Amino acid sequence: MNFEEKQTALSEIAKKIELCRNCKLCEQRTKTVPGSGSPDAEVFFIGEGPGKSEDLQGLPFVGAAGKFLDQMLESINWSRENIFIGNVVKCRPPGNRDPEPDEVEKCWDFLQRQIEIIAPKLIVTLGRHSMNRFLPGLKISTAHGQPKRRKDGQVFLPLYHPAAALYSPSSREIHLRDFAKIPVILKKIG
Ligand code: URA
Repeated sequence: MNFEEKQTALSEIAKKIELCRNCKLCEQRTKTVPGSGSPDAEVFFIGEGPGKSEDLQGLPFVGAAGKFLDQMLESINWSRENIFIGNVVKCRPPGNRDPEPDEVEKCWDFLQRQIEIIAPKLIVTLGRHSMNRFLPGLKISTAHGQPKRRKDGQVFLPLYHPAAALYSPSSREIHLRDFAKIPVILKKIG
């Protein structure tokens, strides 16, 4: 698919998400958050689900965790234009609770389709919920910052969720160190 075809296909998914009533998260949402960024991104970042600011704006990672994500991108001389960011679920779980298994299940096809269209070289999972959806059984405390190639060839890099740095500022160094591996891994993948 060329750039325009990818863009069109992603917009069609975003329209479907906007109309989606497959699970109860649709009842309390303000806006759906389909994800945003470059259709040609080499790296697809995947968080857990929209928070309050994201629900209001319809965009991923625009709150406090998003600001730290922007700082980490800046630390490797990247910006949001270089990447695509989405979430496992596209509507805010009330009170920022974890998404429930049926909610993740009902939303899963949207994410799979987005991955197929963008065809990223690397998927960066943000937080243990996103990681475990793709790489079940891993522990974030040992898996963070370690690239993993799945049997189907897709490469993943599990990272701690950027919100963790807000609660534990001393962990910022770990986040930044893990993040710095992204360009190195991309180069290796070729
Ligand atoms: N946390 C997430 O996991 N996703 C967002 O979009 C915002 C905060």
